[in-house]
Amino acid sequence: MTGKLRALLLGAAAAAAMAAAPAWAATVKVGVIGPFSGPFATAGQTFKQAVEVYQAMHGDSAGGNRIEFVYKDLDQANPAQSKALAQELIVKEKVQYLAGFFFTPDALAVAPLMDEAKVPCVIFNAATSAITEKSPLYVRTSFTLWQATVPLAQHVYKTGVRKVVTAVSDYGPGLDGEAAFKATFEKAGGQVVDSIRMPLKSTDFAPFMQRIRDSGAEAIYAFLPAGPTTLAFAKAFADNGLKDKIKFFGPGDITQEPDLPALGDAAVGITTAFHYSRAHESDLNRAFVAKHKEKFGNADTVTFTSVGAYDGTHLIYKMVEATGGKPDGAKAVEAVKGLSWESPRGPLKLDPDSRTVVQNVYLRVTERVDGQLQNTEKETFAAQPDYGYKLGK
Ligand code: PHB
Repeated sequence: MTGKLRALLLGAAAAAAMAAAPAWAATVKVGVIGPFSGPFATAGQTFKQAVEVYQAMHGDSAGGNRIEFVYKDLDQANPAQSKALAQELIVKEKVQYLAGFFFTPDALAVAPLMDEAKVPCVIFNAATSAITEKSPLYVRTSFTLWQATVPLAQHVYKTGVRKVVTAVSDYGPGLDGEAAFKATFEKAGGQVVDSIRMPLKSTDFAPFMQRIRDSGAEAIYAFLPAGPTTLAFAKAFADNGLKDKIKFFGPGDITQEPDLPALGDAAVGITTAFHYSRAHESDLNRAFVAKHKEKFGNADTVTFTSVGAYDGTHLIYKMVEATGGKPDGAKAVEAVKGLSWESPRGPLKLDPDSRTVVQNVYLRVTERVDGQLQNTEKETFAAQPDYGYKLGK
């Protein structure tokens, strides 16, 4: 065989191999860290289901690259374990993106690894403002406590309430919520009469109920991480007879949809400010909820962490498109700064500075509609930024 003929044959073989190969050029891996077991397992489940819903609605490739998700279970706030899992994902699984993160300390713990490996991280939930200040490679599609709390505190003042007690879990998002409420409410002319901080792992809220009662406040602002904690707190509030005496306000974690059936009447009348309600009236939200029903038999888990993951997946697709599937963390993040898109929650824009989404915050009241509890949106505070980003810096 002449050299020319061999080259021709090899060329033909290569062309045939290419034709037989799937349409995508490469597989881009995304490592998702979240609670898939333990008391907060519903949150991890919402991450995974929403990623699958996004892929069902938009396909499993971006810019000719197949996107593959790898999941790692982190059942609680545990920064050392979070770092170990991220390391394993980057080194062994060769993921190009990190994503997920329910608890703030777990998201914060991976910043040094991200910077070293130049791997972006898309936060599906963790909501303390300072996180995105710790690495230029974080982007966040959830919300921040400052974002939800500033318009809520203004609303509380407008209702005529003047004395409020705050009660928060004693860690990042709780302290942000406490600070945002106090700063906004006192600037308006109100007074925070007591600021209660509860250990993150508290399960018995009875002692705090006594302190809330004794505070003399007309209303409470409360934040705890959504799940068994919020459920136990809201139940204790009702069971201790405080519901008729003290008006209940907070970000929407406290009345997240998966917990409403167990909360029952304890949830009725709670007023929250939040970025997502399953009852949000839009075609895209109806399609989003319907796709969960179609794929998983029901939409019982759909909540704010679902849209965090759905929109986070959208950003990952856009970053993969912009980099042609090649690892270039800085270019990927640059490409999505300022991006606008429609989410099941409403319009979104990724703020180029804070790298957190600018979004509508809705004032909602938990009520029964056709026998089912839901968070009904009553008012829209349009295009809210992360008020806590680089605050005082
Ligand atoms: C957080 O740790 O940042 C966090 C956890 C659960 C929430 C909100 C924020 O519901």
